[in-house]
Amino acid sequence: MLIGSLSIDPPVVAAPMSGISDRSFRLICKEHGARLVYTGLVSANALRYRSAKTDDMLELHPDEHPVCLQVFGADPELVAAAASLAEARGADMVDINMGCSVPKVVKGAAGAALMADPARAEAMARAVVAAVKVPLGVKLRSGWRERGEDAVALARRLEGAGISVIAVHPRWADQRFRGQPDWSVIARVKDAVAVPVIGSGGVRSAAEALQMRRQTGCDAVMVGRGALGNPWIFRQVAAVLAGKPPPPRPRMEQRIAMAARHLALVVEDKGPKSGVLQMRKHLTWYLRGVPGARALRERINRAATEPELRALLDAAGEAEAGALVGHR
Ligand SMILES: Cc1cc2nc3c(=O)[nH]c(=O)nc-3n(C[C@H](O)[C@H](O)[C@H](O)COP(=O)(O)O)c2cc1C
Repeated sequence: MLIGSLSIDPPVVAAPMSGISDRSFRLICKEHGARLVYTGLVSANALRYRSAKTDDMLELHPDEHPVCLQVFGADPELVAAAASLAEARGADMVDINMGCSVPKVVKGAAGAALMADPARAEAMARAVVAAVKVPLGVKLRSGWRERGEDAVALARRLEGAGISVIAVHPRWADQRFRGQPDWSVIARVKDAVAVPVIGSGGVRSAAEALQMRRQTGCDAVMVGRGALGNPWIFRQVAAVLAGKPPPPRPRMEQRIAMAARHLALVVEDKGPKSGVLQMRKHLTWYLRGVPGARALRERINRAATEPELRALLDAAGEAEAGALVGHR
């Protein structure tokens, strides 16, 4: 897949996930075969005031390129200024979020609310295209409310405005994450535009990635929740898209070692306090399937320090080894 002059091969992309897709997670996705990674959404409005927290969200790791920085906002000029800042900070691509349905975002007329205001969405795309040299993407949902072909009509309009790629998460804004994603919307967007289309939603395995690609003709597959505690999925998806058998998922022992490395990366990046808070959820995802996972999860959620979390990972490793011996 070519996004402007950016070659994304194999066409496997890590989804933007606010609160999850931080530098450490993106780096891990990259190391495991995601060819392009997205940041979670960053507020154009907050960037204007350059708060330390939002400024930190613009900081990119040298090893995570190519990386797409996603911005959101309601005012085309503000979003264009944010995109320019993202470009200046080294983003290889910028994306406008037109899919977030969180009340705080849509009440401000941003995110998925733009799907109900195509004139503003188009003006925003034009303003950003004029402001940056890097390629611009948009990430859409099926539409604002279930009533027609919002994504298809908007995709055509945005293509006319000069965007380089469209990612589609085919659920309506008011569905949030409920129900099955309707992949036929991805297929219809793909048929309607010449720019590449990235499919997002419901890919939890390599087989599902292949199915999405076959059913929709999408140029690339984006994986979000399927990568939580399971970054190995990217290499598996890349293999099946290239017609090869997927590498096996590593054994629990290696998954625990990966969790420990992820913990170290996050603590180094965010410091011990926020690092521990951030890693609680990741560790429970890595440990799914380990003997006694539920009790471990409770202990992880109460752990306050990095050594405590490490001790719990060791305990998980021992429980796994014990179970393996028991099986012999
Ligand atoms: C916790 C979470 C945070 C998300 N944050 C964003 C975001 O910041 N920007 C965005 O465009 N989509 C966001 N999404 C949507 C995902 O990028 C993706 O389109 C959706 O989860 C469907 O794909 P999946 O089934 O592979 O997870 C988020 C999803 C989740 C679960």
